[in-house]
Amino acid sequence: MDFYRDRTVLVTGGLGFIGSNLSIELVRCGARVRIVDPLLPELGGNLFNIEPVQDQVQLLRGDLRDPDAAARAVEGADVIFNLAGQISHIDSMTDPYQDLEINCRSHLTLLEACRRHNRRARVVYSSSRQLYGRPRYLPVDEMHPVDPVDVNGCHELAAEQYHFVYRKAYGVPVVSLRLTNTYGPRQLLRHSRQGFLGWFVRQALDGAEISVYGDGRQLRDPAFVDDVVEALLLAGSKPEADGEIFNLGGPAALSLQEIADTLLRIAGRGTLRLAPFPPEKQAIDIGSYYACWAKIHDRLGWRPKVGLEEGFRRTLDFYGPIFSHYV
Ligand SMILES: NC(=O)c1ccc[n+]([C@@H]2O[C@H](COP(=O)([O-])OP(=O)(O)OC[C@H]3O[C@@H](n4cnc5c(N)ncnc54)[C@H](O)[C@@H]3O)[C@@H](O)[C@H]2O)c1
Repeated sequence: MDFYRDRTVLVTGGLGFIGSNLSIELVRCGARVRIVDPLLPELGGNLFNIEPVQDQVQLLRGDLRDPDAAARAVEGADVIFNLAGQISHIDSMTDPYQDLEINCRSHLTLLEACRRHNRRARVVYSSSRQLYGRPRYLPVDEMHPVDPVDVNGCHELAAEQYHFVYRKAYGVPVVSLRLTNTYGPRQLLRHSRQGFLGWFVRQALDGAEISVYGDGRQLRDPAFVDDVVEALLLAGSKPEADGEIFNLGGPAALSLQEIADTLLRIAGRGTLRLAPFPPEKQAIDIGSYYACWAKIHDRLGWRPKVGLEEGFRRTLDFYGPIFSHYV
């Protein structure tokens, strides 16, 4: 995308799964990429994620909760992709204060830095389908009520609202993308607490057993990370995106059992079993979800292109030779 050539672009959480894929694509587009990420333990940050562009990005190992680090990060940026976060729903229930710190304080401090030092950079915030809670209808569009079922969803909602408050009060340009379950290269595989897709991939690579909770018929619409990166790039470059909230989704809604079966078939190993929900996961389960992404299609021309089979093939090919960097 030519828009980014010679622009200074900040990616917060740029050592993580989505942030690193975005940073690599931004370098390819000719942007001057700056990453801020303290590599917080147990999250998806990994220095190896930016290995292909390590000499072409500026890496600030700072924490956005530190106002000085946030000020250095936003200085001179034309676009800010705000992807820093803690995405584990279950961890947000066992340690709600840590989730508050990361998913609220980080964003508030970043926005304060924008207010003080850089009000012209467009901020693209990566929000989540988790805001909607248990869907009241499907597919879920942006008019669906927000009603989170866990602490993580509450904090993501608060953080999204902070962004729009700073837009209204101080004129900081803001757009929010509400992501669905995303998968692909550079996703954390070390533990199961960051969502089921990365963990399914890990089990398939290990030739192990995938546990699908419940009856396996819950629907999801996995999005391949390259499609998500394309949506982020459009949101950061198109003037008509300013002030908007857009849902992202995958190309198809499939049951968890179909998703696992597809992965195991492509991997050629591993097994699947249906297992009862652990009570702590049952308490925050949202049932079936898939997004209506018609709004971003109509306004910005985005649609998810990579089907599940192709996406899983590319994911497994990526991890094959470099698995040791992710376990
Ligand atoms: N992965 C998904 O399926 C998914 C779904 C919905 C929404 N999202 C959103 O996308 C964002 C990125 O997700 P991901 O999967 O790449 O997560 P990730 O865990 O792979 O990466 C998050 C990165 O943010 C960094 N970070 C955390 N706190 C920070 C701080 N205070 N200052 C600077 N960096 C900090 C971490 O060190 C980590 O490298 C999340 O914040 C989440 O809101 C992701």
